[in-house]
Amino acid sequence: MLRGTHVTLRAMRRGDLPRLNAFNNDVAVELAGGGDPPLPQSLERLEAEFDSSTGSGGRDGTSFAIEVDGVMIGQCALFNLHPVAHRMELGITIGDQNYWGKGYGSEAVQLLVDYGFRHHNLHRIFLEVHARNERAIRAYQACGFVEEGRLRQHVWSDGSYDDLVIMGVLRA
Ligand SMILES: CC(C)(COP(=O)(O)OP(=O)(O)OC[C@H]1O[C@@H](n2cnc3c(N)ncnc32)[C@H](O)[C@@H]1OP(=O)(O)O)[C@@H](O)C(=O)NCCC(=O)NCCS
Repeated sequence: MLRGTHVTLRAMRRGDLPRLNAFNNDVAVELAGGGDPPLPQSLERLEAEFDSSTGSGGRDGTSFAIEVDGVMIGQCALFNLHPVAHRMELGITIGDQNYWGKGYGSEAVQLLVDYGFRHHNLHRIFLEVHARNERAIRAYQACGFVEEGRLRQHVWSDGSYDDLVIMGVLRA
C-alpha cells in the first residue's frame, strides 16, 4: 500500500503468521522491541487473535507488515491517536535479524511518518525506546526524531535497568 525504494508497507496476511510467530518467539527481537519481558506465543494463539480481528471485517487500522523483495520482515504501526492534539505513537519491529542494519527500518519509519502527517493530519509522532538500543535510536534520528526526554532506569531489560528515551518528530 505504501511503497518506498526498497520497502513496502501493506496489510498483514494470514500466510505471514508463521514467520510473525517465529519473530515473536525470538528473545533477541523481543528484548530489542522493549515492553514486557519475552513471553512464548503459540502459532495457534496468534492465528486465533488474527481470525478474531479479521472476522469483524472493516480495515486494518494503521498497522502494517513490512515487506522487502516479497518477504515479510516485520511490522510497524501508528497507534494511540489523540484526536484533539493530533499525535500518535509509533512502533516498529523488524523480526528477521538478517534484515537489521540495512536501512529498511529507517525507510519504513519514514514511510509511516509521511503517511501520518500527510494522510492523518498528525501534528506530532512520538515513541519510546530503550537507551541501549542504539541501532533503533540512529534509525529514528535519520527520520527526524529527536530525544525529548529520558526516564532514568525506568525499564528492566535482560537483567539490568535501562533508561527509557522519549523521541518525537513534529510536522514541518
Ligand atoms: C530498530 C530497527 C527498526 C532499525 O531498523 P534497521 O533497518 O535495523 O536500521 P537502519 O539500518 O535503518 O538504521 C540503523 C542505524 O544504526 C546504525 N547501526 C547498525 N547497527 C548498529 C549497532 N549494532 N549499534 C549501533 N548502531 C548500529 C546504522 O549505521 C544506522 O545508522 P546510520 O543511518 O546513522 O548509519 C530494527 O533494527 C529492529 O526492528 N530491531 C529489533 C526491534 C527493535 O529494536 N525495535 C525498536 C524498538 S523501539
